[in-house]
Parts: sequence; structure tokens; C-alpha cells
Amino acid sequence: MKLLLKSGRLINPVDGFDGIADILIENGSISQIGENLSAGDAKVFDAEGLVITPGLIDMHVHLREPGLEAKEDVGSGTRAAAAGGFTTIACMPNTKPIIDNSILVAGLLHRAQTEGVVNVKVIGALSKGQEGKELAELGDMIFTGAVAISDDGHYVDNANLLLNGLEYLAPFDTPIISHAEDEALAGDGFMHEGSVSALLGMKGRPSVAEDIAVARDIMLAEYVGAKVHIAHISSKGAVELIRQAKKRGVKVTAEVTPHHLTLTDEAVNSFDTATKVNPPLRSKDHVDALIDGLKDGTIDAIATDHAPHAFEEKDREYRYAPSGFAGLETALGVILTNLYHTGKFSLTEIIERMSTSPARILKLDRGELKVGAAADITIIDPEFEWVVDSKKFYTRGKHTPYDGSKLKGKAVATIVNGKIIMQNNEVHE
Ligand code: DOR
Repeated sequence: MKLLLKSGRLINPVDGFDGIADILIENGSISQIGENLSAGDAKVFDAEGLVITPGLIDMHVHLREPGLEAKEDVGSGTRAAAAGGFTTIACMPNTKPIIDNSILVAGLLHRAQTEGVVNVKVIGALSKGQEGKELAELGDMIFTGAVAISDDGHYVDNANLLLNGLEYLAPFDTPIISHAEDEALAGDGFMHEGSVSALLGMKGRPSVAEDIAVARDIMLAEYVGAKVHIAHISSKGAVELIRQAKKRGVKVTAEVTPHHLTLTDEAVNSFDTATKVNPPLRSKDHVDALIDGLKDGTIDAIATDHAPHAFEEKDREYRYAPSGFAGLETALGVILTNLYHTGKFSLTEIIERMSTSPARILKLDRGELKVGAAADITIIDPEFEWVVDSKKFYTRGKHTPYDGSKLKGKAVATIVNGKIIMQNNEVHE
């Protein structure tokens, strides 16, 4: 099967190319990039006025399979990814059972091949059952295909366990992804601790809980010389700690979510449970520091923390609702609206953080437009205006704080291994 993407604006963050060109795709790979390529017997996709980028990669997704399919499964989650313009997602192991051994990694990879429409990478648990007591089968899971190790959803309270994990993983050059919020400090709070929580009379989660956890993780990674990746960073203190650690050469990387970049704790005034996330939405000074950190490279990647829950689980009093909401289908629009159309970031910078950088962190052979590479491509209309309607989502998680928001910019086609799997919001089977 041949496909010719005609006259699009190519953006390739790896070499900084930003210009009009054609891409010819043959047998799932990019076979030519250039001007006025002849179509021959290829199907032609007219991309004039559209932006062509390496396929977006979301390194932090909760697919909920196995065991929590009322929230999401591989079929619904990967369709949501395709609708959002993502060609590869990495899924977290806080499922039921926890993905803490090679059989479960293999099973999920197999399920992804039969049921999924985008590439799925698996992240294995750090501790057995994510109980924070005993290391899981780390080597076995990596040999089976796990791309990173994480107890995400939980703070690794036991510093010695984390130290042992880092020591074990150093020779594999595989990162531990840390959910860095000290439980003892933050555990029973529902939102960011600050003036809004005080006014609402709601128990807060102080930002220092995140700062302390990130400081500890950096120190352990530095001591061992191993890689640590900080998930969903949300505090200005953590940004500064990572900035300084990177200057010292510590192997630390970080990701930030679209919601932590664009919403503040003021959103909780609505008592809408869609605003309840871990770590919590913080005040504007933190949001500003996250944007600065993303701009100067302290924060490497944008990741959604797509965390769908069943409707009835979220549809209850704020304190009892689970944390998290579905992010795959709004991420690109939210980022383009708030970071690109405001003039803060170029398209190249955004694609670097949503594709090239996560590919580098997870050592994926993706994130670049080049001849010979797998044809994982996202086609974006940066000017497309639309209103978020969660009823139309592919994900089962219908709660989002962006419901009803007007956004500008959307993926109009998603191509995985040379096949168009989404066009104009329709995901093909
Ligand atoms: O809000 C969140 N929800 N944060 C996490 O780290 C976990 C996630 C979930 O699994 O629901």
C-alpha cells in the first residue's frame, strides 16, 4: 500500500526542518521526503494548509486493562489516542492485577496487537502489587518489552526500595518513573493547599510534599547514577530542583500534563470532580514556573496522565471521587490553544515535547520524520476551531474539566505504520 502526503508543512524537531514537502509512504515506512514527488499508484492525501509531524507519543496513559474495563480498555483507550493524534502510548501498571510480572506484560502487549489501533508500550510496576515492599520482576519485564518501571498512582514511600530499584535498573539504562508526592504530607488532602483550599474549607495537599519527594528521587538517582523520570510535575519547587540537578548532570527527566500547564486551583471552586487530580491543580505561580520549565528544557515532555474513571465513580461528592480524568482527546487542542496560539511556544517546540522527547526518554525508534522510519505521522490543522464535547469521546472516561471549552487546533489524521487510522475524528477499525 502506497500513500502520498502532498504539500503539507513538515515539522521535524530532530533537525529543525519546517517547510513544505511531500512524504511518500510504502509498506508502512517513509520511503521518500521531497518536493513534487510523483504519486504513481499511491493514494494521495492532500495536506495543503496542514501540518505534518512525527506521530505524537503519550508516555503516561492509564489504559486500565486488565481488570478495570469499566473505566477503559485497550480498544477504547487506543481509539481515544488515535482521535487525539497519538500514534504511540505507554500505559501504566496500576491495573487489577498490577502489571508486575512478564506474563502480564506479554499478555497486555498481545492484547494491544489484537485490540489496539495505535502502538502500545507497557510500563511495569516497581514493586510487587505496587505495595512498596518487594521489587517486582524488573529484568524479566524489561526483557519482555517493558519500556520503563513505575509504581505510578502511588508514592514509593520506602527510599531503600527505590534505591535498590535504581541500582538494579542502572545497567539496563531503563528509567524509573516516579509519582513524586510524599504520602505522609499530602495523603488525605483533596486539592492544592493554598488560599483557595482555605476558602473552600477543603483539606489541601501542600506543594512541599512534591518538592521533598522530587529532591529525594534526584538524590538517589545521582547517588546511583541511574535514570529517574518525574511524572506529572506540578510544583515550582520541583521545577527548580530538576533544573539544578540537570546542571549537575543527574540523569533526571520530567513530564508535565496539559492540565497542570493550563488550569489553576481556582477551577476547584466549581466543585466539579473533573478537576480532582493527583498531583492537584496548583496556583498560578506554579503554573507559570511549569511553563518556564517546559520552555527552557528543564521539563522534557508533555504527557496526559490520561486517567479515565467510570461515570458513576466521578459523579459524587468531591472528597469521595477518584483522582484523574481523560486527557488523550483534548491534549493537543489544549496545548495548541494555550501555548502556541498565545505565542509562547513554536510548533516545533510543541512537537518536540509531544513526540521526539518522549521517544528519547523511552528509547523508542520514533519521534522523527526520516526516510526509512516507520510511518507514524500526525496531521494537524492548527487553525481548526472546535468545542470539547465529552459525549463524543472514544474514551469511557467522560469527565473532563475542558468540557464545553473552545479550542483551536486539532489532529485531523493519525497514521500508524503507514495506515490512516483516524481521519476527521473518525477512527477506522
Ligand atoms: O489523578 C491521577 N489519577 N493521578 C495518578 O497518578 C493516578 C491516576 C489514576 O490512576 O487514576
